[in-house]
Amino acid sequence: MENIAVHTKDIVKNFSGKHAVDGVTLSVKEGEIFGILGPNGAGKTTLLRMLATLTSISSGEAQIFGKNVATEASKIRNLIGLTGQYATVDEELTAMENLIIFSRLNGLTSSASKSRSLELLKQFSLLDAKDKAIKNFSGGMRRRLDLAVSLITKPALIFLDEPTTGLDPRTRGEMWDVIRQLVKDGSTILLTTQYLDEADQLADRIAIIDQGKIVSQGTPDELKAHLGETYFEITLGQSNQADKACAIVQKIAKKPATILPEQNKLTVKLQDTKIMTQLLVEFDHQDIPVQEFSVRKPTLDEVFLEITGK
Ligand SMILES: Nc1ncnc2c1ncn2[C@@H]1O[C@H](COP(=O)(O)OP(=O)(O)OP(=O)(O)O)[C@@H](O)[C@H]1O
Ligand SMILES: [Mg+2]
Repeated sequence: MENIAVHTKDIVKNFSGKHAVDGVTLSVKEGEIFGILGPNGAGKTTLLRMLATLTSISSGEAQIFGKNVATEASKIRNLIGLTGQYATVDEELTAMENLIIFSRLNGLTSSASKSRSLELLKQFSLLDAKDKAIKNFSGGMRRRLDLAVSLITKPALIFLDEPTTGLDPRTRGEMWDVIRQLVKDGSTILLTTQYLDEADQLADRIAIIDQGKIVSQGTPDELKAHLGETYFEITLGQSNQADKACAIVQKIAKKPATILPEQNKLTVKLQDTKIMTQLLVEFDHQDIPVQEFSVRKPTLDEVFLEITGK
């Protein structure tokens, strides 16, 4: 049987009458990356804070590696690491000093703190910057240090709250590699993100959360297949024929096309892909030159829009 790292049943967080998390049920398997995807205020941080024993659970149940989050908090703290959405490191201190302080707070001896800190600095390519104050770090270096701090005790389960928000694309990619490596080394990861491509790239399974509730759950492919539609994109060869082309789409596909006028591009969502050929043939008959066409599955962005309607 597969081991379950996190299991929640109907967990709720109530802030003075408002449910920030409103009955979330999910299971995270050992060794997977599970993504919680949702917009600002969806309840992502609150959910992680409950699981990390930083705030109480108002109702419902949660277990981590079979231990009850509400009643076995100290055991759970030995099993988890949390990289918060906002950094907890001290700006004035160096990377090495921060790591040593957090190592000592985690109960490591002075010499163990030093060797673990050096090990982590090496793992996160921060060895050259070990004596630099954090205030002089770039966003990406800072995020890597945040992550390093939460890994001091080599936790089996790692919570990452928006690990790449605010990072440039290259640095995000590096962070993704770091996260994938953690899983290869045997960790389980529960991460939150507002980025659909991040969930798509990283997560084995995703729960989409909106206003405290899970609105959809599955693998990235399942979520996309859920829509069952294929996107057919046609770029016209001439800019003045968009209206005529749209009328043809309406007639043949029986649904409107979305137009990007500045790119001369029409997009049609189709259930039945045979319609694509019919469209191309009709364009040809009507002397509408097609410069380019492509077929693709919806992006997670489009899935999200479809599910939440915003
Ligand atoms: N300590 C608190 N007291 C009262 N309300 C809170 C508290 N913390 C969060 N909330 C509210 O709970 C809701 C969910 O907040 P949360 O921070 O969990 O969202 P989030 O999904 O992490 O958003 P973001 O993407 O902006 O980080 C919000 O409406 C927020 O205002
Ligand atoms: Mg948050």
